[in-house]
Amino acid sequence: MSDLSVKQLFDLTGKVAIVTGAAMGIGKAIANRLSEAGASVMITDINIDAAQKTADEFKALGRKVAAMKADASDPASSQQVVKAAVEQFGGLDILVNNAGIFPMSPMFDISEAEWDKVIDVNLKGLFFFSQAAAKVMVEKGMGGKIVNIASIDGLHPSGNLVHYDSSKGGVIMATRAMALELGPQKIHVNAIAPGGIRTPGASKIPNLTPEQAKAILDGMLQRIPLRRQGDPDDIARAALFLASPAADYVTGEILVVDGGYLVA
Ligand SMILES: NC(=O)c1ccc[n+]([C@@H]2O[C@H](COP(=O)([O-])OP(=O)(O)OC[C@H]3O[C@@H](n4cnc5c(N)ncnc54)[C@H](O)[C@@H]3O)[C@@H](O)[C@H]2O)c1
Repeated sequence: MSDLSVKQLFDLTGKVAIVTGAAMGIGKAIANRLSEAGASVMITDINIDAAQKTADEFKALGRKVAAMKADASDPASSQQVVKAAVEQFGGLDILVNNAGIFPMSPMFDISEAEWDKVIDVNLKGLFFFSQAAAKVMVEKGMGGKIVNIASIDGLHPSGNLVHYDSSKGGVIMATRAMALELGPQKIHVNAIAPGGIRTPGASKIPNLTPEQAKAILDGMLQRIPLRRQGDPDDIARAALFLASPAADYVTGEILVVDGGYLVA
């Protein structure tokens, strides 16, 4: 039997985390739960004003957080963020690769530039942030937790998102491949595949009219057994589990958090 209490299983006191795209939406909710559990959190985003506002909100609650401007698609940025987290907070234990974009486009409308942008932010950036973080975790020799935000679209296409679905399918396989290589160093790599979550990004999907967005949401709600759209905190709770000692024997796993959408 484990000698850790339930409270200890979810305690992140003394841990250092980076969350990408954490100014708002799912990333903000994850930064909230990780910092509530005691971790020092580096909130990174391309939107530094919004990231700073989020950091100020959490600081007012007595949390240890900092905001940093970083483009998740830029490998050089990943090294700067990891360095800053180590310098400001004294180490690195948790990386949450959350930043992602989801423009909707029928396949014949997807330009090379749009394809590259989606793959660069959602997949290439996730790999290089993981590589930079894992290097430091290996050097420190204390293991670590990497949590990737994939999507149910990486398992099941929903339409007009070939680039996005391909990127998230890539996230799922990158998660499993990195878990295989990093397991011996006690670095866990898992992914969460969210269903439809109410976020600022989901409420104004590029290339979609409000009427089209409503039709998609209504269709989803009819199929979801739990009969509601997800909240960002539904994903944050799963991320807290995967980042915590409660998940110490879990790696290479894809945790679907979709209200049952995929089983319907
Ligand atoms: N909302 C959903 O229904 C849903 C479903 C499945 C998966 N996801 C995934 O969850 C993640 C977060 O989605 P969300 O709905 O919270 O999005 P959102 O658009 O509400 O928030 C995304 C945040 O990421 C930031 N960002 C965008 N591009 C960036 C970049 N290049 N570098 C750094 N930051 C960047 C934005 O400024 C924003 O703060 C994404 O990976 C998305 O694919 C969302």
